[in-house]
This record gives sequence, C-alpha cells and structure tokens, in this order.
Amino acid sequence: MEKYYITTAIAYTSSKPHIGNTYEAILADSIARYKRLRGYDVYFQTGTDEHGEKIAQNASLAGLTPQEYVDNVQREIQEIWDLMNISYDKFVRTSDNNHKKVVQKIFKKLFDQGDIYKGKYEGLYCTPCESFITESQLVDGKCPDCGRDVHLASEEAYFFKLSKYQKRLEEYILNHPEFIQPESRKNEMINNFLKPGLQDLCVSRTSFDWGIKVDFDPEHVVYVWLDALTNYITNIGYDVNNTTSEFKKYWPADLHLVGKDIIRFHTIYWPIFLMALDLPLPKQVFGHPWLLFGKNQEKMSKSRGNVIYADDLVRQFGVDAIRYYVLHEIPFSNDGTITYELLIERINSDLVNILGNLVNRTISMVNKYFNREITNKGVYSDVDASLISEINNLDEKIEEKMSKLEIGASIDAIFDVLRKSNKYIDETMPWVLAKDENKRDQLESVLFNLLESIRVCAIFLKPFLPDTSDNILFQINNFDESLRYNQNNHYLVLNPSILFYRIDKEKKLAELENKN
Ligand code: MSP
Repeated sequence: MEKYYITTAIAYTSSKPHIGNTYEAILADSIARYKRLRGYDVYFQTGTDEHGEKIAQNASLAGLTPQEYVDNVQREIQEIWDLMNISYDKFVRTSDNNHKKVVQKIFKKLFDQGDIYKGKYEGLYCTPCESFITESQLVDGKCPDCGRDVHLASEEAYFFKLSKYQKRLEEYILNHPEFIQPESRKNEMINNFLKPGLQDLCVSRTSFDWGIKVDFDPEHVVYVWLDALTNYITNIGYDVNNTTSEFKKYWPADLHLVGKDIIRFHTIYWPIFLMALDLPLPKQVFGHPWLLFGKNQEKMSKSRGNVIYADDLVRQFGVDAIRYYVLHEIPFSNDGTITYELLIERINSDLVNILGNLVNRTISMVNKYFNREITNKGVYSDVDASLISEINNLDEKIEEKMSKLEIGASIDAIFDVLRKSNKYIDETMPWVLAKDENKRDQLESVLFNLLESIRVCAIFLKPFLPDTSDNILFQINNFDESLRYNQNNHYLVLNPSILFYRIDKEKKLAELENKN
C-alpha cells in the first residue's frame, strides 16, 4: 500500500484557536480522508507548538506556570479538533520529552558539523512572531508577517549558515515545480526572500527560558521555529543517528499543509535544515489562503473582537455544516470570508435544498411506492443515461481536482451530480409514473438510479462531511463501496430522517445578535 504522510502546521498554544486556525485542520482532514478512501496508507499528524516568549508571557498573565498554561490550551485545541472530526493519527506536542531530546541532538549535530556557530545578534525583533526581521523585509516600518511594531534587540546567539545552502535550495525549487504550491506562493518566496540573498538565521535565544535548552550551553533555548519545524521528523522516529523503520517508511512527508503566512519557514528554513541533516525534502508544501471574518474581510484577532470559535459555531449549526462552509467557500488561492449570513445561506441552499431534499424525497418515495425495497428493472431512456454518465464521471473528476488540492471544486463536482439528480426527479416525475400500473418497472428504475446517485455521492462526500455521509449510507442501508453506478445493487432502505434543518435567517441572526 502506498503511504501518504500529511501534516498541518502545529498550532501555538498561546490561546484557544479560532475558526481560522481550525480551518487548516479541517482542510488537512479532508485530504487525509480522501487519500484513505483511495486506498493509501495515510499517516496524518497535527499538534501544538508550545514554546516561546509569547506563551510564557500569556502564562504569567494567567498566573500559571508555562507548563500548566500549555497543558490547558493544548487540551482545548485537541478537544476542538476532536469535535470537528479531525481524523489525525498522531497529535504531537513540542513539550513531549522525546521531541525535546531529539531537538537537542539535532542542534548539537548541526553545531558539530559547523552549520551552527555562536555570535552576537543585533537587529529588529518582532515579539509576537518571535523573529528578527531585516530592514528590507519591513512593510511600512512594521513586521511583514503580523503588521505590528518591531523593536531593536541585541543578544548573544547561535546562528545557522543559511547562505551555505542557498544555491542548492534554489536549484531544488527550480527542478521541483510541485514543491511549493500554489504557484503564486512560490514566486513570492523566490522574489521576496531568495533573490535578495539569505542572511544567517539566529537559532537560539537567551532573553527567556521557556523552550528547549541547548544542552551544551544551557543559557540558550532553541529558536522556536527550529524546535517547531522538526516536529515533522522527531515524532515519526527520527533520532539523528539511529533511524527507525517508521521514519524510513514515512519520510519524506507527502504534504505539509500550512497557512500562507508561514510558508517562508517551510520552504526556506525547513528545507535548509533538512539538507544540513542530509535528509530528503518534503514532496510538497501547500500554502493555503486565510479565512477572514465579516463583511470587512478582517483577519480574526482578539483585539479586534471579531474572533469566532469552531465550538460556538458547531453548537449553533452542527459539525458538518461548518466543515462544508469552510471547505467549500475558501478558494484555492484567495482568502475566503465567513459571516453568519453567508453561512446560513449556504446551509439552506446547498445542504438543505440540494443534498437533504434529494435524500429525503428519494427515500420517502422508495418507502411509499415500493415498501422500502428496490432492484434495478433496467428501463433506460436518454435522461437516465445522462444521469448515469454524470455519476460515472465523478470518480475521475474528483481525482483530477483533489490531485491539485482543489477542495471546493471537488465538492462542487459532487453537488453538480446532486443537483442533476434533483432535476432528474423533476423530469421523470415519479409521482406521475406511480399512477400508471404499466409504468411500475420504469418507476422502480428511476428510484434505483436515484439511490445509486445518492450512494456514490455519499461515498465521495465522506472526506468532507464524514457524519453526513455515514448517515446517508445508513438511511439507504447500502454499503457497496463501488465508486461507479452499480446496476446489480439491491436496496432495502430505512425510514428517512432529516439531514439538515432549514434555518430561518432573520430569526437566527437576531438570536446571534442578542447572544453577543
Ligand atoms: N506555530 C506556528 C506553526 C509552526 S509549524 C512548524 C503557527 N501557529 S498558529 O497557531 O499561529 O497557526 C497555525 C496555522 O493556522 C498556520 O498554518 C496559520 O497560517 C493558520 N492560520 C492562522 N490564522 C488563519 C486564518 N485566519 N485562516 C486560515 N488559516 C489561519 O503559525
């Protein structure tokens, strides 16, 4: 079985994650589930990034030790991932002992081989991002990543000789066009970071101590990005000298899924660290766009007071409605927006009208006209053939979209077939056929075709809406896994139950308004 190792970025345990951070876990989950559906031996890793100055500051504000603080936030994050049905194989924490031990060994190895040296750093520092920034990277005098003020800082520090690997990295990026995706992100990396030339990277700190200590110089803690990035290898058995069979099996990763703000760390620093460790590079780094909030398309932030949390949304709308919205509405390379209004509209128009209605109408008719039981009577006309070919084309269409990680387009392809199936009901008018005894076989064939369409669509919906998919397959009571129209199927359906309830938009908006 071919393996597929997929990772998300590991979330900071600085505070409870909002729906924007959660989006990434949902996106990765849908890809992991899709690959499982296609028969891959998937290993899906996610987790938390628990060290650094900002986290230590938050802990002290909360009157807790850093460890107590990260334990609380980590639990909250994992609970949200579980609530959203994130099917991770491993949830890693950078405070795990094994991770800490291996990071120390990696640091020592890089120091011993001369890639890391000790020096003094003076420069502009962004505290929230925990990174020094060069003059040329400033945007309007502010941090290019978070837009906040930077200040002058100076400290004794260890440095990594990035420049030594610059040429090799450039060649690698040139020869592996699939490495950085989407294309626009690759150009950004080349033009903004590689072309101006890489400067040596400061990889230790002495100004705080909540981090992994450099074991041969314990005044220093390892720079949080060197600590965080290595999670991708330390947790699958990399141990510097003794490489385990698990590591050999899963590395290199097939996909690192990260937000566009941190693609730089994953496509410049991370590959260079790996080159220095003499390890192969991940096959692909995909920088997804952001989920912005509200009509003004703002980045969610606590200070703006516009943060929404996945668990609140789930309480209001249910897990799959939220998964559907974020997976469908966030375009492949541009930022997407979430508002309550749009969310309710989508639920009503797509999940209730298209999906829910089709399943409910079909199962109700099978109950009503055939006492639950249907086989294929093989009465075909042009309109049936066209539906069947739509069902059979889905397999290839979805693979084509998913191979480019175009999740929204894959969902669209499924909903196209669902929409066509609703239209097919209007065209074939089963309630008219039901009035004519001579049309019984035709009626049964029509309902059979609809059940097959629902079955195949439900299977393809599994990566995106896992609970709903299970619920549909349970209701049609058929667990044939074939991804095409199967003329030999036999159905004995159960009673229909509502998949998604229509939401009264004005009423719900007023209710949410009062709550806030
Ligand atoms: N800890 C680092 C990642 C280290 S990976 C070795 C980090 N953490 S984070 O909590 O700030 O972000 C986690 C992920 O969520 C990142 O990939 C980030 O881009 C993503 N997102 C943060 N805000 C987001 C949105 N509003 N929308 C979509 N993704 C968002 O960065």
